[in-house]
Amino acid sequence: MVDFTARDRLKLLLGGSALLLTACGGGGNEPVSGGVFNGKPPPPPPPPPPPSPPPTGSDTPVTGMLRDYYRNNFKIGTAINHQQVDARDKSAQIAADQFNSITPEWELKPSVINPSPGVYNFSEGDRIVDWALENNMAVRGHALLWHVSTPHHFLEGSREDIKLRLEDYIWTVMDHYRGRIHVWDVVNEIVSPDIYRGYDGVGPDRRSNWYNAVGNSDYIDWAFHAARAADPNVQLFLNEYDTETPLKREWFVQILRRLKQRGVPLDGVGHQMHMFYDTDYKEALAAIEAVDNEYMGLIQHVTEIDVSVYHDPGECWQTSTNCDADYGPNPPTEVLNTQAALLKNLLDGLTLKPSVESVSFWGVRDGDSWLNTSPIERHNHPLLFDRDGKPKPAFHALTDPNYKTE
Ligand code: GLA
Repeated sequence: MVDFTARDRLKLLLGGSALLLTACGGGGNEPVSGGVFNGKPPPPPPPPPPPSPPPTGSDTPVTGMLRDYYRNNFKIGTAINHQQVDARDKSAQIAADQFNSITPEWELKPSVINPSPGVYNFSEGDRIVDWALENNMAVRGHALLWHVSTPHHFLEGSREDIKLRLEDYIWTVMDHYRGRIHVWDVVNEIVSPDIYRGYDGVGPDRRSNWYNAVGNSDYIDWAFHAARAADPNVQLFLNEYDTETPLKREWFVQILRRLKQRGVPLDGVGHQMHMFYDTDYKEALAAIEAVDNEYMGLIQHVTEIDVSVYHDPGECWQTSTNCDADYGPNPPTEVLNTQAALLKNLLDGLTLKPSVESVSFWGVRDGDSWLNTSPIERHNHPLLFDRDGKPKPAFHALTDPNYKTE
């Protein structure tokens, strides 16, 4: 398979038209001077030959194929970690080759950057950010505040102590990445998961360590105001999972309304979209529509796509029981085709949503994914490339306009 770049394709195209022009040029139609043909204006050039179709099914995708395909619609990104970048492993190579945005998987979270009072560690994040910029990729900063990644010292003392410490942390981190990171997930996952147990009357806010220490959800407002003050040139996002489920979406939108009414400087929302192979893509698109329909002028990003080849019941996530059986290294072809169709339908739909400016996957190769250990240890196959880095049906579905979904 010939591995040619977009530039090579352009050269081929231009070469083709030049040949055609030469072929049509004989027989008295030569330019006399200044491009005038025998006193008449030159005839229009013949149309260029049609571009060659993309090499569907190829194991070596054309450089830039994925990002080129969506370049008029949105950035296309992936999560990556510093081990992959340090080793320039296959995933890092594919990321630089096919994507134009990256999200550091762990390296910009508070428990890595500021594990104890006065101790700041930027080195791992810096190596990813430097590599991304060298490769002309944008960086999504993820995340300044997340209840799962909050060292104990962040929540010690009074409300005022907590607020000042948060403001100081946000200023320090955003200042460090000033001019290098233009989008931050300021707060991650603040909608209550109680939604899955039915409405229990406590409302949409997650009763997290932050909520409990502060006494209410004011910490969300503090974080956004601190981020705006630290760097007015950065887009500020609220990131959430499961917005493709109607009840969760409803609570998410309630919180958005409240933040906007209170004048919180929110520029955009991130929908994580960790999905199952049989998730209804229309529900995922409905999450985007629900935010558009509020007319708040919010930008939208899809931030963490993966598509599990299993569909476990809730108790698998809560108590590791009744999980689907491991497919092993070779999942059924029909599951991979269903996964491909879901992604194709979803991304086709996203191209029609002007508010969507970035779509990111949560990892490059199947072996990179957190879903190989969560909710249980098991082979999962949720991404666009297999463990060896070969493009899967889902990759071909996204880059071949003639791909047929079943
Ligand atoms: C959440 C977080 C991500 C990542 C994933 C899976 O979605 O936002 O940063 O940790 O969980 O690990």
